[in-house]
Amino acid sequence: MQHQRASCLAWVVLAVLALSSCDARIIRGLHQTAAGPIPSQQQRKLLQNPDAPALTQYGGLTMENIVPKNGYPLEKHAVDTPDGWRLNMYRIPHGKGQQPGPRPVVLLHHGITLSSACFTLLQPNESMAYVFADAGFDVWMANTRGNTFSRGNYNYSFRDPLYWRHSIDQYALVDAPAQIDLALQVSGAKKLAVVGHSQGSSIMYALLSSKPEYNEKVSVALHMGPVAFIADIAPGVVKDMASVGNDNMFQDMQMPEFLWYRLLAPYVKQCAGATAGAECMSALNNLLFGPSSLIKPEDFELILQTWPASVSTRNLHHWASMFRTAELDFSRYDYGTDCTSTTMFQDSCNQAEYGSLAPPQYELSLITTPTVILKGTVDVLATPADIAEQERRLQMAGSHVATIEYPGFSHMDFIWQRQTQQHITDMIRYAKQYAEGTY
Ligand SMILES: *[C@@H]1O[C@H](CO)[C@@H](O)[C@H](O)[C@H]1NC(C)=O
Ligand SMILES: *[C@@H]1O[C@H](CO)[C@@H](O)[C@H](O)[C@H]1NC(C)=O
Repeated sequence: MQHQRASCLAWVVLAVLALSSCDARIIRGLHQTAAGPIPSQQQRKLLQNPDAPALTQYGGLTMENIVPKNGYPLEKHAVDTPDGWRLNMYRIPHGKGQQPGPRPVVLLHHGITLSSACFTLLQPNESMAYVFADAGFDVWMANTRGNTFSRGNYNYSFRDPLYWRHSIDQYALVDAPAQIDLALQVSGAKKLAVVGHSQGSSIMYALLSSKPEYNEKVSVALHMGPVAFIADIAPGVVKDMASVGNDNMFQDMQMPEFLWYRLLAPYVKQCAGATAGAECMSALNNLLFGPSSLIKPEDFELILQTWPASVSTRNLHHWASMFRTAELDFSRYDYGTDCTSTTMFQDSCNQAEYGSLAPPQYELSLITTPTVILKGTVDVLATPADIAEQERRLQMAGSHVATIEYPGFSHMDFIWQRQTQQHITDMIRYAKQYAEGTY
């Protein structure tokens, strides 16, 4: 009964997303600012792209608001990418009441619609950034380009469509390596452990399969609800987008940023005032990531202080087009074969970008980093079929160490439930096991 109501509400949200032509007009207006002149190398200056905390009626918390309040030291580190982005990482260099000094390093990588804040929002014994820090780790948190905290760009304002021309390829092949190198350089460690959630794991898979040298920099990869081959996913935004072709509708609307919070704000406001407010909020989670029986509905008000973070429409299109491919597909962005097209998504062609008609596949069988998969038994995004295929390819390289199952866990429970910290304890055990000689 509850489920039915929740999924009904989810469809209301989808309708808001799909039909909110009024919001679409506002957004189109926002993005119509013409591209300014590109600054020369001499006068390289960041354009005004302020941090974009979530819905302000829920506080719009920043890392600086959250982490020190919980009693932990916090550092912010910026890194410039070769293609003109300034990305911010956050670091908790040691646990509560501990002395600074060399210790094993772990990098936490958030999933789609999320940011580094997702690892710090709950209590010190519940959020994994704190638990790792208290267990003796130097904790680093990545932020992909364009999300809440990594907005800096030398060429484009966020109002410029070209600011949003990125998908998992750039996160995996440019952002993640820059952030891994920064963490190693600042900490002085030789290797680090990576923890990925959802798209954070997809990014690590893509990086480790494409740049062999990063397999030497990562001691162990710990993947919570990793997503790669999505042919099998249950209903949700990506599947709806893919099957109905909504991603192309957003292209027609010239909407390069998928502005979750602007689109959802009216709905969320209604939700908050309603008697079934909490249930209404959890419908949002159901829609995006599938139902959870472990996240406390009353926690959604807290969660909405940092979620959702911005996502580029191009990234959703990347996932939607991999879904539409009939065979198992985890590949680079598909520019298509028409080399004259200049639409928002098809602004080049595979031949020009890759020298082939089809985009190259990310080959998981090339990954040599020891890999542990954490699997929720009721996760509808990281499905059993997808994970089985990931395991099969990792086994070809001898890099699959273990898969651990968490009964009753759905996709977001790895981040937002507060009933058990078993998954964090398990990851810490593996990270320690592979930490010898890394720092
Ligand atoms: C962005 O700016 C950097 C220099 O700041 C330059 O090297 C790079 O090519 C530019 N990228 C694009 C896509 O304009
Ligand atoms: C965290 O600590 C609080 C008490 O301070 C406790 O109620 C809660 O159950 C703990 N959470 C976990 C996941 O152990």
